[in-house]
Amino acid sequence: MKRRALIAANWKMHKTSSEAKTFVASLAPRLTQIKDRDVLLCPPFPLIFHVDEARKDTNILLGAQNMYFEEKGAFTGEVSPIMLRDLHCEFVILGHSERRWVFGESDESINKKALAAVNSNLIPVLCVGEKLEEREKNQTEHVILNQLDKGMSGIPESAVSSLVVAYEPVWAIGTGKNASTADAKNAIVLIREFVHSKFGNALAEKIRILYGGSVKPENMKSYMDQEGIDGALIGGASLDVDSFFKMVSY
Ligand code: 13P
Repeated sequence: MKRRALIAANWKMHKTSSEAKTFVASLAPRLTQIKDRDVLLCPPFPLIFHVDEARKDTNILLGAQNMYFEEKGAFTGEVSPIMLRDLHCEFVILGHSERRWVFGESDESINKKALAAVNSNLIPVLCVGEKLEEREKNQTEHVILNQLDKGMSGIPESAVSSLVVAYEPVWAIGTGKNASTADAKNAIVLIREFVHSKFGNALAEKIRILYGGSVKPENMKSYMDQEGIDGALIGGASLDVDSFFKMVSY
């Protein structure tokens, strides 16, 4: 089954509002010819409003990079799913390795976030991936399956079909050391098999699975040529609009 490709930019903690607006103004007219894939921008929280304004009348999709799982309350510094919906976000990245390993997020809290996102009609982009030492100890499959099992626990079948999973090996993020296409493909096959075993074939065929980790214009097509890789989650190389557009139009 042919799934619609999804090319997603994770801007992490980069850009000011004027830089974000300039980026979208430059990207949007170039996207008018590209109708067969989805393009998602995930700016930091303070830029979401500006990107939403700038993307009006375009097909650009909007997502956040994180959120808290409660709807509201005394949670200083946090942002709720309702707030993200209010800003017209459609997606939210959850369980990014920087959230897991820099900010200490657990599988349990990521799962609570995924359930809260789905409850608020946000589509989670659930990130999974092994660290270098885990890969060296041959624990890659175990780590990925464990993160999926815990992260997706309790997600209703109705939400699984639109869910996005991103395989992002931690050692490949921001290092310039991208995973080989074979490694990326193997991990993505494993993820789809997991979804198959838990939710059945129809949902396994629908769910979109992305690769992320040092994706650049030069290697984008080699990933997209792999059966089962439905798109990319791109950090550093998504910050420059020319570079990002090259990857969108791989
Ligand atoms: P880089 O593309 O900078 O390696 O980052 C990948 C990533 O973490 C996307 O979420």
